Amino acid sequence: MKNRSLISINDYTKEQQIRILELAEEFENNPRQNILDKKVISTLFFEPSTRTRLSFESAISQLGGKIIGFTDASNSSVSKGETLKDTITMVANYSDLIVMRHPLDGSARWASEVSKVPIINAGDGANQHPTQCLLDMYSIKKTQGTLDNIHIAFVGDLKYGRTVHSLTMAMSQFNTTFHLVSPPELKLPSAVKKYIKDAGLEYFQYNELEAVMDKVDILYMTRIQKERFSDPIEYEKVKNSYILKNEMLAHSKPNMKVLHPLPRVNEIEEAVDQNPMAYYFQQALNGVYVREALLAYILGFKD
Ligand code: CP
Repeated sequence: MKNRSLISINDYTKEQQIRILELAEEFENNPRQNILDKKVISTLFFEPSTRTRLSFESAISQLGGKIIGFTDASNSSVSKGETLKDTITMVANYSDLIVMRHPLDGSARWASEVSKVPIINAGDGANQHPTQCLLDMYSIKKTQGTLDNIHIAFVGDLKYGRTVHSLTMAMSQFNTTFHLVSPPELKLPSAVKKYIKDAGLEYFQYNELEAVMDKVDILYMTRIQKERFSDPIEYEKVKNSYILKNEMLAHSKPNMKVLHPLPRVNEIEEAVDQNPMAYYFQQALNGVYVREALLAYILGFKD
C-alpha cells in the first residue's frame, strides 16, 4: 500500500480530505470498533500536548490498538544526544505507525523520509497541524452543513499559529472568504496567503476584532503562541490583543460558531462557554472521531 503519511494538509487531495470527514462521521456513530487489534501505534511528543495526544490515544484505545511512546523527550535517549533520524528509525521497528509532535518546522517531513512506517504530523513548530485541520473542517461541516462559501475569521496569532496555516490551505479549496484579524506583528505569512490568492479568493485584514463580528459564519480564535517568541518583551506587547466577551456576540449571524484549537489562555472569557455559539469543546471531542478515521484510513482498514 502507498505510504499515506500525513505531514501537511495538502499531502491529501480534496477528495481524500472529504473521505476522512465521511469516515469520521461513521466513527462518531460507532466509535468502538476492534479494527486495530494487534497494531502498535507510537505517540512521540517532543512538545507538550493535551488534546492531540490524548485524543489520539483515546482513538487508538477505542479501536483496540496498543500505544507506546513518550510525552517528554527528556526521558528518552534524545536526552543523551540521539538524533531524530535514529529515534524514528528505531521506533519504526517497534510500531506500525508513528504520531509525532516536534517543535521544529519540517521535522515531521524529515521523519517521514527516514521512517519505514507512516508518520502522522501532530504539529511541527509553527508550520502545520493537519489532523487539527481535519477536525476543524469536520466541525465547520457539522455546524454549517457545508464547507462551501463560508466566511471565516482567523483571530490572533496568524504568524505562528500552525492550525491557521493548515486550515487556510484546506479551506482555500472551498470558495472561502477569509477575514484575518491580528496585530500587525502577527499577520498571516505571505506563503500561506498565496494559497488564498492562487485559488482566486479574497482575504481582508483587520486590527480590530469588532470589525468582523457580524460578517462571519466561523470565528476561529487562537492563542498568541508565547513559546514561538524569541523576545519575551515582544510577547508581552501582544499577549492580550483580543479577548472575546459575550456582549461582542450580540450582532453575530445566527449560524455563527466560535472555534478555537485550544488551549486558550485569555482570549475567550469563560462566560462565553455557556453561549450557544461556543463550539470549541465539541470541536476538541470531534478530534477523536477524525483521528479514528485517519488511523483506519492510513493503516488500510478503510478506503
Ligand atoms: N489543539 C491542540 O493541538 O491542542 P494540544 O496542544 O493540547 O494538543
